[in-house]
This record gives sequence, structure tokens and C-alpha cells, in this order.
Amino acid sequence: MTTTRSTTRINTLNRLDRKTLIILSHPDIERSIANKTIIGHIKKALPESQLEVRHLESLYPDFKIDINAEQAALLNADLIVFQHPLYWYATPAILKKYVDDVMTWGFAYGTGGDKLKGKHFLQSITLGGSRESFTPLGYNRFSIEDILKPMQQSVYHIQMIYNPPLYSYRNAYVPEVLNSMSEVRENAIAHAERLIEKIQDFSKGNKEKVENFIHKWFKHFDVLDENGYFIQYLHQDIEFTFPGYGNMKGHTEFNSWYYSIREKLEAPIKHEVKNLVIEETERNRFDVRFQVHFLAEEKESRKEIDVVETENWELIWDENGDRPIIAKYVVSV
Ligand SMILES: Cc1cc2nc3c(=O)[nH]c(=O)nc-3n(C[C@H](O)[C@H](O)[C@H](O)COP(=O)(O)O)c2cc1C
Repeated sequence: MTTTRSTTRINTLNRLDRKTLIILSHPDIERSIANKTIIGHIKKALPESQLEVRHLESLYPDFKIDINAEQAALLNADLIVFQHPLYWYATPAILKKYVDDVMTWGFAYGTGGDKLKGKHFLQSITLGGSRESFTPLGYNRFSIEDILKPMQQSVYHIQMIYNPPLYSYRNAYVPEVLNSMSEVRENAIAHAERLIEKIQDFSKGNKEKVENFIHKWFKHFDVLDENGYFIQYLHQDIEFTFPGYGNMKGHTEFNSWYYSIREKLEAPIKHEVKNLVIEETERNRFDVRFQVHFLAEEKESRKEIDVVETENWELIWDENGDRPIIAKYVVSV
């Protein structure tokens, strides 16, 4: 049993643009190879309207950070990237000061301090050492994930969503001693491409994931899977309406409806999704409309069911769990 993708039409209107803020820290960006190359590529690849790059050392050569300006930039962004070289297993000094000064009580943590909650965080780092050096027998001993744990915990503490860090090895250029300039540059271009892909994926939002979910949902429905599969995606107070069953609410009523369907119909059944329109009404809230061509056979009477139903769902994408939750599910014929 299949659900066809060819007949789906994704409504691209109403896409809510997600903004990326790059906090760049490098004390000598003019002489940088890796970070300068990465930022150059990013600026070329991404639309200005969706990207802000703030180079801390240029903005604050005296290290006096404008806290209000930095907090405003954070509030305006959905994805915050810290781009920097690894210096002594940490960030360059001004980026540590930025965290100390800008992530204040009442803003990022403490009473009322939830202003960054739900925003995404990504650390993008260039490393001097090789992959082998960041292993137990290498001279850097610890993995980069181990080294970044304090930042990871800080991000959890301010309720942002932590994305696995993006990093590349062998970025140090010491003429005639370590790497060649072209090696470091190529390395940086590859790093930039990975970062651009991440940002672009993020900017697209979760709309495509919603589409994939709808097809997966009906594949499970076609084989009349265990009810546990469906329940995990239903809001505990889900409101649903099915033809012939009227309005129902909550998991218990869904279970009774679903058991009656399993009793009644011969598996497999068939749902063909058509004319899918997904609209993001506000961030991570989706209004989903489509038709389903429903084909099944009743167990007892052997009667064929062949109907086209119209469905309208309200769905929330839970970013922490990275999964959809259906809040309202209305089916009509
Ligand atoms: C002060 C300082 C500290 C550094 N500490 C580390 C380190 O702890 N681990 C590492 O792998 N590389 C270290 N490096 C190497 C840099 O990470 C590397 O040169 C940089 O990522 C290259 O990027 P750039 O061309 O943008 O300067 C250090 C470099 C400097 C100048």
C-alpha cells in the first residue's frame, strides 16, 4: 500500500523566514585564512535579509561590548552561530567576554530570563590540530565534543536548542612547518559549504518534515499498525472528527475509535494523499489540508469502501523533540 508523492502540492506561500546571526570572533581577521574564507563564502551564498554577521573584535576593539545592541541582535535571530578558531581549547577571549556580558540574568537565565528559549545554537570552529590529535593517545587527548562541554551546558542552561558542533581539523598555517595555504583554504571552503547547507536547511523550517511525516503516517495507517505509533504524535487533548463518529477528544477516545476501525477493516488498506497544502500560520504551527483517496474492504460484509475524504489538521512541530504533534484532526467526506 502506498501514498503517492507525485500528486502532492506544497504551498510555498506564507514561508516564515528564519534569520541567522553569526557571532564571529577572530582577533586578526585580516590575517586569518580559515575563518576569513568561511565568512566570505557564507556572505556570498546566503541572502542578506536572512543573515547578520557581527565580528566582535571589529565592533569592540576596546572589549567594551554594547550589551543592548548584542541582545537586540540575538532577539532578532532564530539560529545563532558562534564562528571562531579554537584557542587554548576554548573560544578567543572576547567571545568568552561576550557570553559573560550578554547572557545576563533576566535575559538569558534566572527570573524572567527566557528570552533565548527555543532559538537554535550552533558552534562552528576551526581547529589547528589533526583528527588523530583529538584522541586519547593524541597530544590534544580529548575529543572536540568533550572540549566543548562547558559551552554545551551553557546553551542548555539558557534553554536554547543545541545542535551538534560543526568543526574542521588542520586549519593552522605555519609556513614550511604546518600545512600549505591552499590546503587550509580548501579545508575552509569545505567547512563553509557544510555550514551553508546547515543554515539553508534551517531556513527552510520544518515544512518539508511535515510533508514527510504525513506520508509516513498514512503508511502506518495502511497496515493498521499498533495504536502506539499514532498516539505518540497526538496532543493529549487532541480534537478529532471522523465521518460517522462525530467529535471526539483525547487519547482514550482515539484508541476506541482506532480499535473499532481495526476490527472492522481488512488490512492492508490504502490511503492516497492528494493536493497537500501545508501553511505555516506561525512559527512551527501548521495548517495542513489535503484529500485522501481511501480504499478498503470491510471484514464481515466484504463490502468495498472507495471514498475521497477531505482532511484538515492543525499540527505543531515540537523543536525540542524534533517531532510533530497533531492538535486537531478533522476528516469530512
Ligand atoms: C592563541 C592560539 C591558541 C590556539 N589553540 C589551539 C588549540 O587549543 N587547539 C588547536 O587545535 N588549535 C589551536 N590553535 C590553532 C588555531 O585554531 C588555528 O590556527 C585556526 O583555527 C586557524 O584559523 P584562521 O586561519 O582563521 O586563523 C591556536 C592558535 C592560536 C593563535
